[in-house]
Amino acid sequence: MNANTPKPIQHYLQFSDLSAAEYAHLFERAAVIKKKFKAYEKYQPLADRTMAMIFEKASTRTRVSFEAGMYQMGGSVVHLTTEGSQLGRAEPIADSAKVISRMVDLVMIRTYGQDKIAEFAAHSRVPVINGLTNEFHPCQILADIFTFIEQRGSIKGKVVAWVGDGNNMANTWLQAAEILGFIVHVSTPSGYGIDQSVVGLRSNDSYKVFKDPMEACRGAHLVTTDVWTSMGYEAENEARKMVFADWCVDTEMMKLAAPDALFMHCLPAHRGEEVEAEVIDGPQSVVWDEAENRMHAQKALMEYLLLGCVA
Ligand code: CP
Ligand code: NVA
Repeated sequence: MNANTPKPIQHYLQFSDLSAAEYAHLFERAAVIKKKFKAYEKYQPLADRTMAMIFEKASTRTRVSFEAGMYQMGGSVVHLTTEGSQLGRAEPIADSAKVISRMVDLVMIRTYGQDKIAEFAAHSRVPVINGLTNEFHPCQILADIFTFIEQRGSIKGKVVAWVGDGNNMANTWLQAAEILGFIVHVSTPSGYGIDQSVVGLRSNDSYKVFKDPMEACRGAHLVTTDVWTSMGYEAENEARKMVFADWCVDTEMMKLAAPDALFMHCLPAHRGEEVEAEVIDGPQSVVWDEAENRMHAQKALMEYLLLGCVA
């Protein structure tokens, strides 16, 4: 490829779309980009680039982190919602993708089924980033692992305890474990476990299933959880509250984890449900760094998807 050849389109639809070497590059770039941000150093490699952000579900962090990140890098964003666009009036996804991707350089989508984002990407002229689907939340795990590395160094060989729903976050942690070489201890109520056909692992070596959430936390270097009811599943909320009652990360669970274990939650959190206030607001919790790091990690991701490896 010579200097004038455009970079081939690379989408980020699930964590397994990138290799361990590409993640090493992203974590390094995220640290550099974060340092520049903290020093008020202008860094605008995406001047004149535009990103469309399509939200079919609510968001605080994903919207702010992508939007602020894109502006800081010199670009701009167009914000679309289902209700406010023709997406909510049954325009085919393929048609929307063809049109939108002729006018922007990058697309971020938060939607329901992974099939929808895959269909959009198949018809897009520009890279598409998954800002959360029912199945995956790769940008969140990118930020979470960047946060772990900042606090504790490499995640390779470490144990991450997942306590709660076998949801988009859990699926993404499992993909990350296989690529980056760590182990996930998964504990979910029965009936809410991981759907292996969704995660698509090459082997089962990178995770262990525990009936008892306390046992999942034993020796873990990171304990993490998420809401009992994800967006799109609200009708199940009351039933889930009963089934998930024992899957609340509390101080007893944190005591069983490694002495220097971290606690993470992608947020928004429900104190008294999936996590006790003492844990999320306690000394082992890094949830605020985790949230902030969405922006730094995604800036590295946008830079990589649009410009390739920038030294
Ligand atoms: N963690 C996360 O994706 O938050 P939002 O739903 O606020 O974007
Ligand atoms: N699992 C949650 C994550 C929210 C950021 C959801 O999908 O609603």
